[in-house]
Amino acid sequence: MKMPFCNVLFCFALLSLLCSACRRPPESAASREGSFILGFSQIGAESAWRNYNTRSVQEAAGEAGIQLLYFNAEQKQENQIRAIRSFIAYQVDVIAFVPIVSTGWEHVLEEARDAEIPVLICDREISIHDESLYAGFIGTDSLQEGRSAAEFLIGRFNAEEMDRPVRIVELSGTEGSSVAIKRALGFREIIAKHNAKAALPEADLARFEIIFSASGDFLRSKGYELASFILENIDEFDVLFSHNDGMTLGAIDAMKEREIQPGTDIIIVTIDAEQAGINALRRGEVNFVVECNPRQGPEIMRLARFLAGGDRIPRITYVHGEVFSEDDDLSQIPPRGY
Ligand code: AHR
Repeated sequence: MKMPFCNVLFCFALLSLLCSACRRPPESAASREGSFILGFSQIGAESAWRNYNTRSVQEAAGEAGIQLLYFNAEQKQENQIRAIRSFIAYQVDVIAFVPIVSTGWEHVLEEARDAEIPVLICDREISIHDESLYAGFIGTDSLQEGRSAAEFLIGRFNAEEMDRPVRIVELSGTEGSSVAIKRALGFREIIAKHNAKAALPEADLARFEIIFSASGDFLRSKGYELASFILENIDEFDVLFSHNDGMTLGAIDAMKEREIQPGTDIIIVTIDAEQAGINALRRGEVNFVVECNPRQGPEIMRLARFLAGGDRIPRITYVHGEVFSEDDDLSQIPPRGY
């Protein structure tokens, strides 16, 4: 029989309180092989990607015999800070969290350091003056995700003769999140390099131009709203670069309502590689998908175990991601699971 989730939380909280009566030794041999308590703060459930990422963490903890104290921050940094403070009060062995935005973590991480609890940053990076306040980062390489998206476009438009720049609109992720910042940076870095080499001869025009960019917060509903606005207000554009599949699917809905053929009338590049994104690629409605791999649970548990045992971990651990193009044999892509 399944225990309701709130009961599971309560049990973990109770267990943690009992543990706090006998404070853990700084280097626990038991944690190297056996169980320990990991406090994990997730940001919410904004996408299918995120839900799978949460499942990956919960299942990996179960499989590794690690006691997980899980909190969903419902998209609010203050909720995450509160959760981390409660992990400190419970004296968990390790704290892991997905920072919704990259700044504003100094105080709470100083509190974790003072309590001698190591901190693992997951999925999204933080920007902090004193980097010794966390043990390491595990997640995907967002800069490379943006670069891969731009590299595809450069190849895709290589043979096209145009007397004006290729016009790009961008739906970016949550403002201030490291993934949105770095995907945008990586994308622009490659576009700028290419523009410097391949300016259009006539008026010294850039080959690619980002004519619009706004945050859709990684939400399908906002992807739809933004795309509707763009389609009503911007005359002509060639490319949609969207920071996640959820927003892309919303934008595709908005295009279809206006009888615009996604993937043909507008070239679409998206990130995540959810099953729905891959299905859209197979239907020809998306042209290129960059995988952001959400299967991070096992690696998080491996690193957390090192930390619980008092060991050091690498500063950065990247999880591998693939890319999928309209030119690939799409029948070979295994079911995504998210
Ligand atoms: O931080 C990873 C991003 O967050 C994924 O691209 C997006 O779908 C998610 O919600």
